Formats: sequence, structure tokens, C-alpha cells
Amino acid sequence: MPSGTIKVNKPPPQPIIGPPPKSTKYKGVKHTIMVMSGKGGVGKSTVSVNLSVTLAKKYKVGLIDADINGPDDPKMLGVSDAEITAKDNQIIPVSSKYGVDVISMAFLLPTEDTAVIWRGALRHKAIQQFLEEVAWGERDFIILDMPPGTGDEGLTVAQLVPEVEGVIIVVTPQDVALLDAKKAINFAKQMEIPVLGIVENMSGFVCPHCGETVDIFKRGGGEEAAKKYGVPFLGRIPLIPEVVANSDDGIPSASSNEIVAKAFDGITEKLIEAIGKKKK
Ligand SMILES: Nc1ncnc2c1ncn2[C@@H]1O[C@H](COP(=O)(O)OP(=O)(O)OP(=O)(O)O)[C@@H](O)[C@H]1O
Ligand SMILES: [Mg+2]
Repeated sequence: MPSGTIKVNKPPPQPIIGPPPKSTKYKGVKHTIMVMSGKGGVGKSTVSVNLSVTLAKKYKVGLIDADINGPDDPKMLGVSDAEITAKDNQIIPVSSKYGVDVISMAFLLPTEDTAVIWRGALRHKAIQQFLEEVAWGERDFIILDMPPGTGDEGLTVAQLVPEVEGVIIVVTPQDVALLDAKKAINFAKQMEIPVLGIVENMSGFVCPHCGETVDIFKRGGGEEAAKKYGVPFLGRIPLIPEVVANSDDGIPSASSNEIVAKAFDGITEKLIEAIGKKKK
């Protein structure tokens, strides 16, 4: 080797992971939907909670907080102080006043700031319990709020749930949305799960003083990604400061803010449409 050059070993080829055996215990749920993103902090939990609240106006909805390390959903639904109970060897999910029942690692932690430092196998086990050992009964929808990226948790759900209805991908409007969406689409493809659509979050900021829209994170990346990859575009949610305050106060904005409610009504309508089209 000439001096000054460094030999870099090629990474080993990625194993092709196919769908292994399915759970026989997770049943009675009509539509199981995963909310994912290629990266963190784009609004998966916000979308999961508000979508669940909107669907719950018409349907029986359960929400699984599949983010074991960073469980946020109980706080966003105002039930972080609840304690879970069990009956007939099954965990009873926590009911919220918004019609959504939820299960989360947050209910099992001694304090809100306890760090969950678990390897993949333990997180797999926790999600398996959330699917198989919770008394979901007959449900129209189970929404799974996934952790960022395409790691172990997504794999667990894809492995266990007999038929995942599909994946909703949340992106922010920048150009990198294309790349982020692509990662999640590739995951769905490899797991043989349909992509139900893309939601563009933090799309334009409406100034509360002058009413003008400022595109802080650009605009249209989600719609562009949907077009490029041939998947439905479910809609956009503007960046609204009240959403942050509401989340912290345990009030889903779809139940309290007109703009957010309208956005989620539209997203829900498109989602139902996408499910209907898929079934034909
Ligand atoms: N449309 C919006 N307008 C204003 N703030 C928002 C909006 N969507 C999300 N947020 C805020 O952005 C932050 C991140 O959102 P959220 O927790 O839903 O993202 P996430 O993708 O679930 O994050 P993580 O990857 O850490 O799980 C939260 O404080 C949330 O309140
Ligand atoms: Mg989250």
C-alpha cells in the first residue's frame, strides 16, 4: 500500500429481514396503523395522539406508545398520573377523556424522569406485551406511536401483528423530507406493509399578530415526497405555538384548536379513503 493511504473495510452486507411468525394472541383489531418517521422530533407523537382523538369521534380507538425510551403519549393525553390495573391476567389500558385508551411505558416507570436503558430484546418484550397482554377487546383502530427511525420496535410490530393495515409517515417540510420519507418507505417495503400516506407537520407558521404565513421550515416537502414515491399525501399541519403548550398541558390540540382540528379532520378523511382504496 502506498504511504499515506488508509484501507477502509467495506461494511458487511445488510441481512435481508423477512416477515417471521405472527402473533396468535393479538386479535379483534380491525386496523393497526404505525406512525413512523425517518428521524426524531418531527411530530409522530403529536400526530398519533391527535389522529387517535379525531378517529375516536366515530370509532373505538386504542393508542400504543411504542416509544419505550421516550414515552410521551400519556402526558399529551393528560393521563400521566394514571396507574394501570389488570383483570383476568390482562392489562387494562388507561382511558382518557378524549375517548382514546392508551398504554405506555410511562405508566410503569416510578418517576417521569426515570431513564429506560434497555437493550432491544427488552424493548421487544415490552411492545409484545402492549400488543398481546392488554385487554384491547374489539377495536376499530390501534394506532402505534413509534420511536424515531426504523429500528427494533418497528420490526417487532411488523413481526407480531398478523396484518398491519399500514404506515403513516410524518415529515417536516424541508428538502430532507424526501430522504426521511424514503427511509420509512423502504422499511415498509421490506416488511411488506403498505404506506397509507405522508403527513407534513410544522408546515408554515401563521403569525398570531399579522396573520401572515411564514414558511419557517420551507413548505411542500411532504407533498413532494408523496408524489415522488407514489403514496397518498394525507395533509399538512401548520406550526402553531399553542400545540406545544397544549401537549405539555395534556390537551390534544385537535380537541381545542380550530386550525389543528380542521387539519386532522382532513387527514382522517384521507386516511379512511386510503384504507378503502387498499381493500378494493
Ligand atoms: N404542528 C406543530 N406546531 C407546533 N409544535 C409542534 C407541532 N408538532 C409538534 N410540535 C412540538 O414539537 C415537539 C416534538 O413533537 P413530537 O414529540 O410529537 O415529535 P416526535 O416525532 O414524536 O419526537 P420523538 O422522535 O422524540 O418521539 C413537541 O414539543 C411538540 O409539541
Ligand atoms: Mg414521539
